[in-house]
Order: sequence, then C-alpha cells, then structure tokens
Amino acid sequence: VTIRREDYRPFAWLVPEVALDFTLGLDETLVEARLAVSRNPAAQADPVLRLNGDGLSPIEVRVDGEAVNSWVMEGADLLVTLPGNAHNVQITTRLAPSDNTQLMGLYASSGMLCTQCEAEGFRRITFFPDRPDVLSNYRVRMTGDKALFPVLLSNGNCTDTGTHDDGTHWAEWHDPWPKPSYLFALVAGDLVVNKDSFTTMSGRKVDLGIYVRDGDLDRTAHAMESLKQSMLWDERVFGREYDLDTFNIVAVSDFNMGAMENKGLNVFNTKYVLADAETATDGDYDGIEGVIGHEYFHNWSGNRVTCRDWFQLSLKEGFTVLRDQLFSQDMGSEPVKRIEDVRVLRGVQFPEDSGPLAHPIRPDSYREISNFYTATVYNKGAEVIRMMRSMCGEQAFRKGCDLYFDRHDGEAATCEDFIKAMEDGAGLDLAQFRLWYSQAGTPRVSIRMEAEGDEVVLHLSQDIPATPDQPTKQPMPIPLRIALFDRATGAHGGEQLIVLDKAQDSFRFKGVSSEPVLSVNRGFTAPVAIENQTSAEDLVFLAAHDDDPFARYEAMQELVVTHLKDAVGGNLSEQDRQTGREAIGRALAAVLADDRLDDLMRGELLILPSNTYLAEQMLIADPGAIHHERQGLRAWLGEQLEAEFVALHDRASAVPFSLDARARGARKVKTQALVYMASGNPDLAAQMAAGQYDAADNMTDRQGALMVLAGLQSAQRTHKLLDFYNRYHDNELVIDKWFAIQAGSLHPQVLAHVKALADHPQFTLKNPNRVRSLYMAFAANPHGFHAEDGEGYRMIADLILALDPLNPQTAARFVPPLGRWRRIEPGRAALMRGELERIAAADNLSRDTHEQVARSLG
Ligand code: ARG
Ligand code: ZN
Repeated sequence: VTIRREDYRPFAWLVPEVALDFTLGLDETLVEARLAVSRNPAAQADPVLRLNGDGLSPIEVRVDGEAVNSWVMEGADLLVTLPGNAHNVQITTRLAPSDNTQLMGLYASSGMLCTQCEAEGFRRITFFPDRPDVLSNYRVRMTGDKALFPVLLSNGNCTDTGTHDDGTHWAEWHDPWPKPSYLFALVAGDLVVNKDSFTTMSGRKVDLGIYVRDGDLDRTAHAMESLKQSMLWDERVFGREYDLDTFNIVAVSDFNMGAMENKGLNVFNTKYVLADAETATDGDYDGIEGVIGHEYFHNWSGNRVTCRDWFQLSLKEGFTVLRDQLFSQDMGSEPVKRIEDVRVLRGVQFPEDSGPLAHPIRPDSYREISNFYTATVYNKGAEVIRMMRSMCGEQAFRKGCDLYFDRHDGEAATCEDFIKAMEDGAGLDLAQFRLWYSQAGTPRVSIRMEAEGDEVVLHLSQDIPATPDQPTKQPMPIPLRIALFDRATGAHGGEQLIVLDKAQDSFRFKGVSSEPVLSVNRGFTAPVAIENQTSAEDLVFLAAHDDDPFARYEAMQELVVTHLKDAVGGNLSEQDRQTGREAIGRALAAVLADDRLDDLMRGELLILPSNTYLAEQMLIADPGAIHHERQGLRAWLGEQLEAEFVALHDRASAVPFSLDARARGARKVKTQALVYMASGNPDLAAQMAAGQYDAADNMTDRQGALMVLAGLQSAQRTHKLLDFYNRYHDNELVIDKWFAIQAGSLHPQVLAHVKALADHPQFTLKNPNRVRSLYMAFAANPHGFHAEDGEGYRMIADLILALDPLNPQTAARFVPPLGRWRRIEPGRAALMRGELERIAAADNLSRDTHEQVARSLG
C-alpha cells in the first residue's frame, strides 16, 4: 500500500491519557495498556477506533472495565467499535523481546530490555493509534526481576518505586509533556550510571545520567561534557531551556540507527556514547558531540513541537541537523565543519538526488517510512533551512525560530507551519522558496562572466534535472554568496549575496577590475552544483588566495575534479595529463607550504574528491577508470611531493597527544601524508605506517596507520592487523573498526578478505554495527564493490537476502548502492540490475527491502 501526503486526515479519536503496565522478562513481557479515548471534535466522527498493531494479538480487550468480544482484526490492526463519546479501552498483549531481531519495538540487547519506537515501533508493543499527531500523557509502571533489571527507566520523572518479596521490584514514571507514541521509551537492565547535573538559565537543576554496561563507565566523560555543552548552547543560541527534572541517556550495543530522542530518555548506539583516547578516534569524538547535540536539540525541534505526519519528517530532522551542525561549528572549527558537512551532502545526498530513489525533502508518498530517513530529508533538509538563514541573517532567523516554537509548542506541526513562521517572524517572502520542499533533484547553476567596460556581468542560469514522478521543474530561489577578486592584488571588494530566482538572469557589478576571478557559492550557501568553466589557472589562484576557507577548498576540489573528469573521459593527451597534474601538484605544494593554514584546514585541502563524487560528475561513470585515474594521480603526487610528505609526517609526529585543535590537526595530516605515500612509495609508506602504529598513544594514529597498511602488500600488514585484533578483541566498537578497515581497503584481495571475515567468529548478522562495519565499508569501497566480474554486487545482494528476514530496516539500507546502475557503464550496470532482480524475485521480502528494490529497478 502506498501512503500519500494528500490523504492526511486527523484521527477520529483523541487519546489524552495512556497508562502502560509492563511485567518484564527477556523471553516474555506482558503489557497492559489503558487508553482514555474521546472523540476528536476536529475530525470526522467514526465509531470505530482503529488501533495499529504489528505482529500482536490481543490477549484481552476491555471497554470501560468490561471484557468485550466486539473487536475485529483488520490485517495487523485492531478495530473496536465504541458507542459513546469517551471510553476507557484496556488491552493486554504478550511480547517476546528475545526473538525481536528487527530491533523495533521492545527488544533485548546484551541482557537488557530497551525500545525503539520511531517511526512505527510502538505498534509492536501495544495496539495504539501509532501516528505522530495523537499526543498523550504517559504513565508507565514496570515490574521485573531485581537482579536482572536493577535499573528501570522510562520517559519523564520517576514518581515511585518499590520491592516485592518474590525478588521483583517496580518503578513508576510519569511524563508531564504530551507526546506521540514514537517518543515512548523504556529501558530495564543491569546498568551503571555516570551522574551529573546542569542548572538551566531559569535556575532549574536537572539531574543528568548516562547509563552504560558495567566496565564502560570510564568512557562516558566526553558524552557527558557534550550533553552539558549542548544544553548551554541551546539556551544561548536558540533561547531553548530544558523542561524536566531528569535527562537520561542509555547506550545500547544493538541499534539500527545512531540514536533516538525519546522524551527525557534518549537511547543511543554505543558508538555515539563511548570514547577514550585509547579506543576512539578524533572522528569518533566529533560524532559523539554531534549526535548528543542532535538528540538533545530534538527536545524542542521534534518533541515540544512534533510532526503532524511522517511526510513532515524534515520539519524535525532537517531543522535539528542544522542545529547540530551550528553547534559543532561553534565547538570546533567552523570552516572545517562546514567542509565536512558539504562532503557528506555531495557524497551521499547528491547521488540520492540524481538516482532512482530521489525524493523531495517533504516526500509525497511512501510505502515504508523507514526508507525515508535519508540524506535528503536530513542533510538537504538542513541546507534548505540554512538557505533561509543566509537570506535573512542570524538575528531575523532567530526571530523566526522563536515564533515557530511559540506558535506551535505542544502541537504536531507541518513544514508549511515552519515556513509561515519564518515569513512572519524573520520577514522573508518564501512564496517561491517553498519549491525547495516539493521539488527533488540537485539544481545545476551555469555561470558565464562577461566584461563590459568597467562593468562585469554575470549570466546565470539554473536547471533542475528530472527525477522520478517529476519530469519538469520550476526555477527556485538560489542564494549565492560571491566575490570578485582582482587578479593583480589578490583582493576583492567585498562579498555579496545574490539570489537567482529565474531560469536565467544577469547581475551587473560596477567598478571591478577587468577580468576578475570569480569566487561563487562561498560557504556553500546553496545546495547546488555549479557549472562554471573556471580555468585551471584561476582555480590555482583561488586555492591559494581565497579568504573564504570553503571557497579555497572548493577551488582545490574543482581543480582535481576537472582534471580527472577529462582524464577518465579520454580527452587528455599525455602532454595535457602532465600539465594537469603539474597544476594540481603546484596547488598541493602551496597548501603544504602555507604556514598560515592550521593543520585541520590543511587536512581538508589535502583530501582528494571521492570516487562517488567524481562518478556523480559524469553522466555515465566507469568506476574502474575513475579509480585507476584517481589512484594514478595520487601516486604521481605522492612521488613528486615525497620529501614534503615525509617532512609533514615528521613535524606532525612531534606534536604530543591532546584533544586540542593543533594536536588533532597534526594527527589528521600525519595519516594523510601516509595515504599519498602509500601510492607513491609503498615500501617507505609501509615502514613509516608501522612506525606510526607502534608509537601510537591514541586510536586516531593507530587506526590511520593500520588503514594505510591494510591496503599494502607488506608483511607489516599481517603483523599489525593481528596485533590490533589481539589488543582489542573484547571491545566491540574497536573490533568494528578492525572489520571496516579491511573491508574498505584497496588491497587486491579485498573480496576474499571480506568473505573470510563474514565467517569470523566475531561476525554476526544480529548486530547492525557489525554488519555495517563489514558490508557498508565494503559497499563504499570503489575497488571492491565495483569489481568487474560483479562479485562485489553479488556479495551485497547475498547480504540483503540473508539479513532481510532478521532486520529489514538495516537490510534495505544496502539497496541504494546497487540502485546506482543507471549511471554506471553498461557491463557493470547489467550485473547490478541482475542482482536487484534476483532480490526482487525472493519470497517474503520485507516491505522495506521490496520498496527500495522496486524503486531502484524503476
Ligand atoms: N529520530 C532519530 C534521529 O534522527 C532517528 C530514528 C530513526 N529510526 C528509524 N527507525 N528509522 O535522531
Ligand atoms: Zn534526528
């Protein structure tokens, strides 16, 4: 069944109060749900109360205290006909948490019980109108074995606890804030807690707790610090204060996504909680800070103001991603964070937007909502709100946000409500801008510059490619920050924001030096692809002189992209190839020598554009040719600049470990130097990487060195992989790295390695982190996944078929890499398509995987 946005109708019933009584057990849990229901005056009357279920059968149904038989099942849903305007409905269900491999609803994870309800997991716990526009007050009572489940947590505040003589105990929790069912959470287990507190701006003391398994407590400090910083930042920057006496976080090993913002009880993947220098990389530290912030910020953008229906998902996710990005920018380096976010957008969202799964940030239809937790809804959604902010400025943006929160507090809102609040509060006219919510596809902006006397004219045009169900598009407002550089002085006369809102338009600039160098989409103000025939000479100029760090990075990327595109297209003579490489080599040498750059930023400038991003630049990509040319360029650069890379590695190695920006920057460039050298001089690189590995007093250096070694055919490779395993074999998160490093390596035998790793005793399909560490790393490995004989595609298809019956949500996430076939050269495309057809032909495919495969085949 396809669900359509236009079919939205308010629910016929209100459920102001919910009381849930759990008798907990890993193998069997009993749930007694009592719902106070009344007719919704704002909806069309319906005597039938439809309660969603998924895999449940009612043990008993009571209406106003009387057991009734007047209910029917319709599919998985329970329908009860109610005579009057208000009733109490009581339903008992029985669950088997240990058998719940989907990790949706109530499930068991290493001896504890926990829940995941977004988007539609609550209906796996009890029958309920499981939709975000039904808001209720929740009271929860849990009873369970005191030894197995010493800790009993739910949303809101704990109101009472007690013990029984039979070895069980109980706790009652009450959440005073009305919420939809997807924000319900329960955790029961043998956990230890890191306790702290935060005093809010109005002086309310909030008890903070981070719950983890015994032994993990000393890895929770960074998460706690990130939480307190998040709370402070949301007060300072958005004026948002926390609203309960308690805020708890629980870390769970088996989790489908990153984390979940349940009211007052966030549940996290351990990956985004646990860190210390020995076991976590700098990237892991950043991930924790960002995700802790993200989930905390949902308390306002998501919980206090929630979504009317799941088509509005970007209302909370796009906005909250923007909020977490701004938070991380403030905590660390603003330009580096911006570059990282744009890299994710281009590496993941642009391909989505140009493929069979393209959808607007506010989709119009879906079959399985889990498939729409995408880079488009999240990351492009954030970019769309960021554009509003760029157009009105920070202060007006804050006014718009304040109005949105004031107006819709306690409501289930829509994207349209957000847009309206921005118009009224920030003074923007967003009439045409709304198209960003309804049109899919990445706009392409072409630019031509013309000099007319002392004037410069920029001719801009936009084109939005056709996407599934959207053959034609209307022009959208595209805000572009630009600057015109004087070639002679290297300066510009000030930045301006222009908005291209027509298919074509021209912009005049007076008093500009003749033939200026154009720097455009500075700071990446718009999520578009710029097509600008900038010469290599101008790109080298911008890479060296642009005062906007993002634009500098962009020029560097563009220089490499243009060259590799030409090289892969076979348009380069040997002479041209040499000239191209030399231009890139000069720019890279300048980056290495520029002592005004900090190393974190230098590290960004050193990163070559990814294979995926390169493929995205071509109508039909040959992954083999792209990989070959890119590696060839890297080897050439590694050889040419060997002395510089060795010097960089030496300099960076002398910086002692700390978490400050200078030391982190040093670690970043240190491994990057090795990456270039691994292509240019593998023997020397192996020796230096082994040295870095042995000397490492932190995971960033150790993992970086191992990653370099994993791609080399060297005896050190085997030694260090074994050493790493032996050191960390009892640490799940580090063993995930061990799998991922091997699956992502450029080693010629990578396919055989992945096959062997799938049989490793520590591999299991039951843990999503472990599955991703092996197979996502592999699917993202251009050299392995795109093996010419199709073996890589077959491995991913086999995985999907094996995982789908256990965990459809995670299985479906592996379909998009195969779905890229239309943009790949014919030989591989046929193999990819063949694997999709093989999956489609399987019996009992989940709705999740079926939808993704059907859309991918088109
Ligand atoms: N709302 C969560 C977050 O972004 C993600 C939950 C996703 N759950 C799912 N079943 N797709 O923070
Ligand atoms: Zn979120």
